[in-house]
Formats: sequence, structure tokens, C-alpha cells
Amino acid sequence: SIPEYVKIVEVGPRDGLQNEKDIVPTAVKVELIKMLASSGLSVVEATSFVSPKWVPQLADAKDVMEAIRDFKGARFPVLTPNLKGFEAAIAAGAKEVAVFASASEGFSKSNINCSIEDSLVRYHEVALSACKLSIPVRGYISCVVGCPVEGMVSPSKVAYVAKKLCDMGCYEISLGDTIGVGTPGTVIPMLEAVIDVVPIEKLAVHFHDTYGQALSNILASLQMGISTVDSSVSGLGGCPYAKGASGNVATEDVVYMLNGLGVKTNVDLQKIMLAGNFIRKHLGHSSGSKTAIALSKI
Ligand code: HMG
Ligand code: MG
Repeated sequence: SIPEYVKIVEVGPRDGLQNEKDIVPTAVKVELIKMLASSGLSVVEATSFVSPKWVPQLADAKDVMEAIRDFKGARFPVLTPNLKGFEAAIAAGAKEVAVFASASEGFSKSNINCSIEDSLVRYHEVALSACKLSIPVRGYISCVVGCPVEGMVSPSKVAYVAKKLCDMGCYEISLGDTIGVGTPGTVIPMLEAVIDVVPIEKLAVHFHDTYGQALSNILASLQMGISTVDSSVSGLGGCPYAKGASGNVATEDVVYMLNGLGVKTNVDLQKIMLAGNFIRKHLGHSSGSKTAIALSKI
């Protein structure tokens, strides 16, 4: 059986725009976030407080947060890699943050320039500060089935990091197939290992669609009882530090599948498509959502 309701976490403005060659003007980002929040999504990840040298695409994080300060209807978490980012996020009005660890040593080094253990120490500091301010913290784990540097990643490594993030107080742990290499054949054993150590209600899945496996992986996750799914409008996304990573699964495609399954999301597909058209027109490339392409021809 699958859940009656699925919470979709929209990551387009962050995971999507961090990977675009051209820097998107702040006003366009703000309009995109507004359109997404008004489509019924309850969570729209807005930006990252990371080093502007590492991710220049999101160097305007403070301005984005200031512009969306009064937006209602959704939560707008932001990525924070360390205390410096956390403090800047809170100063800019963030009410929720996310930390991002990796299940593979090689990717941890290339994405956040430190070992897994060092990252967990940093994230513990962020979690302690967040707890004092009653700020919810989400934890990401990258490379949950494969790593661009090391190849296959074993489920026990994912379970280890998931337990650590859970113990430090993360209310939700998002399992990321950063380079989209997973199939249900590798995703299911990984989830089984994580479910052994973290309550399933705390888990989310985050698939990139590099090999066209994302919807199958989502369906397999739902069948195991997971009810939180990350996706990105129009299938934008990728990580600049994961070579070969392509877009996230498209929000439109996830909503179309969940509608077909009779699973509630509260998300209006037409409105998501309008947000997708808006950002694609701006970026000047075509949609990464098969659903959006198909429905726009009818
Ligand atoms: P570092 O170079 O080791 O940092 O970077 P450092 O502590 O040595 O500091 C170097 C400089 O950066 C200093 O400035 C710091 O002040 C500054 P300088 O003295 O040279 O002028 N700095 C900062 N500035 C702004 N905000 C900060 C910050 N921290 C330090 N928070 C660091 C380490 C973690 C900062 C860097 O590696 C970084 O920013 N990495 C982020 C990479 C990133 O955002 N990747 C994409 C997100 S993860 C992802 O996409 C995967 C996910 O979607 C799930 C999935 O798909 O699997 C989540
Ligand atoms: Mg991602």
C-alpha cells in the first residue's frame, strides 16, 4: 500500500538554479518562489547560504530571503553548510535550515571540502544553535547509492550518516541520489538499511533523473511507506560538484503520477506548469518535465 498523502518538497529555486550556467536575477528567483508557493506546495527550498566562491549562482541569498520575508502559505528552508551560513540565514529571516552531508568521502571533500566526520561536527554545531532558536533542521545525505568519485556506495554508509543526523535532531532526512544512478534494485536495499535505524516518518527521497529512473524509484519508496518526496519544477537541477548529475525529478511528473495513484498532494499541476514555463522562458531552454511537454501540446 502507498501513503494517502505525499508531501512534496520543491527544491527548484535552490537545487535547480545552483546548477545554471547563467546567474538568474534576484527578481526572477523571487517571482519563481512566489509562483511555486501559490501552487499549493507547503515547502519551497529558497536558496543556500554557502560560499559565493563555491556557488556564485546563489550569492544573492540574503536579497532573496529579504524579498520573500512576507510570503505566506509555504515554508522556505535554506541550505547552510556551517555556522557562518546558519547565522547569515537567520539574520536574513530564514525560519528553517538544511544541512547537507554525504554518504561518500570523495563527494564530501569535493562538495563541502571536508571529511564526513568533520561535516558531522559542523552540522552538530548548526543543530545546537538551531535548537536554541527553535529552528527546524533538515538533513540531506548525498550519494546514497552512487558517488561521482567512488562509484557504488554501500547502504551501511548511508544508514550510518542518517542515524547521526537523526541523533543530532534533524526532523527529516532526505536521501539524495545525487547523480541519478539508482534503480529500485539499489534504492530498495539502501532504504531497508536506513529504515532499520531511523523512523520512516522522518525520511524523504531526493532523486535526480539522470538515467530516467526517478519515478520508478519514487514509486518503490512510496510502497515502502515513505511519504515525503523532493522534486524540482520543470526538472531543473544538479550539483555543480557532481560531474554528470542532471536535473531533479520534475515536480510536474511527480504530481501527475501521484494524481494518477489517487494520492493527495494539494499541489495544483496547472499552476506548477505556469511556474515551469516562467523559469524556462527566462533560462531559454526547454522543459525537463515530460508531463509539462505533453500537457502543453493538448
Ligand atoms: P572552504 O573553502 O573549505 O571554507 O569551503 P573555509 O571555511 O575555509 O572558508 C573559505 C572562505 O569562504 C572564507 O572567506 C569564508 O568566510 C567563506 P574568505 O576569507 O576566503 O573571504 N565562507 C562562507 N561564505 C559564505 N557563506 C558561508 C561560508 N562559509 C565559509 N556559509 C564550504 C567550505 C562548505 C563553505 C564550501 O565548500 C561551500 O560553500 N560548499 C557548498 C557547495 C554546495 O552548495 N553544493 C551544492 C549543494 S549540495 C547538493 O546539491 C546535493 C543535494 O541536492 C542532495 C543531492 O542531490 O544529493 C542537497
Ligand atoms: Mg540534489
